[in-house]
Amino acid sequence: MTRPLKGEITVPGDKSISHRSIMLGALARGTTRVKNFLQGADCLSTIGCFRAMGIPVENRGTEVLIHGNGLRGLKAPKRILDCGNSGTTVRLISGILSAQAFSTELTGDSSIQKRPMARIIAPLSQMGADIISIRGNGCAPLRIHGQELHGTHYNSPVASAQVKSAVLLAGLYADGVTQVTEPFVSRNHTELMLQAFGAHITTENKAASITPPEELYAQEILVPGDISSAAYFLAAGILVPGSELLLKNVGINPTRDGILRVFQNMGADITLLNPRVCSGEPAADILVKSGALHSTVIEGGIIPTLIDELPIIAVAACFAEGTTVIRDAAELKVKESNRIAVMAEGLSAMGADVEETEDGMVIRGGLPLHSAVIDSRQDHRIAMSFTVAGLMSDGIPDIKGQDCVSISYPAFYEDLEKLSN
Ligand code: S3P
Repeated sequence: MTRPLKGEITVPGDKSISHRSIMLGALARGTTRVKNFLQGADCLSTIGCFRAMGIPVENRGTEVLIHGNGLRGLKAPKRILDCGNSGTTVRLISGILSAQAFSTELTGDSSIQKRPMARIIAPLSQMGADIISIRGNGCAPLRIHGQELHGTHYNSPVASAQVKSAVLLAGLYADGVTQVTEPFVSRNHTELMLQAFGAHITTENKAASITPPEELYAQEILVPGDISSAAYFLAAGILVPGSELLLKNVGINPTRDGILRVFQNMGADITLLNPRVCSGEPAADILVKSGALHSTVIEGGIIPTLIDELPIIAVAACFAEGTTVIRDAAELKVKESNRIAVMAEGLSAMGADVEETEDGMVIRGGLPLHSAVIDSRQDHRIAMSFTVAGLMSDGIPDIKGQDCVSISYPAFYEDLEKLSN
């Protein structure tokens, strides 16, 4: 087992907010300045796509300047848009591309070419978009011929911010109001940022509506730290005995903070300090101290608020007293990997009692973990989750493909190392 983790850490900027800052910055008139932009591979893919459509983006490392050209200012790209590993890029950009006066093709790596795109093809087609899966398998590569779009009311069968955002972004160009209703509310960064850029957005219960604006206006954005990245240090701080960590400037938007509520329900010692608002997004410093956990049930409306954190929550549940049940989380099967199968397989290989179910996992806590060979499947959240599991096991797991953390947290291993010295 590792030494206690002590000290302060500032995790990188939020991935979802960073993507959206480039997209809205490109569609706004004027220069949008983004501080604490996530320099992860996924967000760099989004920058690459907008540069290919004629938008000058200056990436200065600590800040990014996007010289937006207005809602109708994108140019036809000369090549296929490469979205890399990023589902957010493909799905959100498709909403924008559906309304442009040109045609595009977009694709990404082998993982992205297996992820479901029918979920955006259906609502965008309902708005009048001409968008197809080129291989006819409901996945990328996609071909989009821009069209005049119509306002619609889309009743989404999944709680997915990527689906909701694709429709709302297409709604920027529609001939009337566009509304999306979800079974449970998913992250609302698109709504908050569209509003900040001057669009008229309303939300009521599980529905969000957009009235097409004349123009979007460039903004200054300070991106809060990503709670999905903080999650690994939160779990490590709870699990490794004697630890005490201060996670600085973490976004705690209520549509993203489910992990805090779950860990607190499990008995964790977590305190929020200096709550504030960072460019319209709630943020705080999080103090976490190690301590015992007990089991819980995670289901229903909280699932979308912690969807990317379920792998690390599953790790924590292995050390909790009692049986933790995760259900209503079938969406995990269509992430960068099948995160239910991959977590159940890897944790079981390390000696945990984890049962894979149709829409989640059943985890009987309390068994000691040992070293094993883990295939990350090139999924960043799997690699980071098993790294934390390794802190608590009696031998470091051999994680294959661990460099994939560059997708969302390039300095993850260095940051973890600093805290254990
Ligand atoms: C994201 C939404 C989530 C999340 C993904 C980022 C976003 O996906 O898993 O990592 O930025 O909108 P879904 O909305 O498809 O669940």
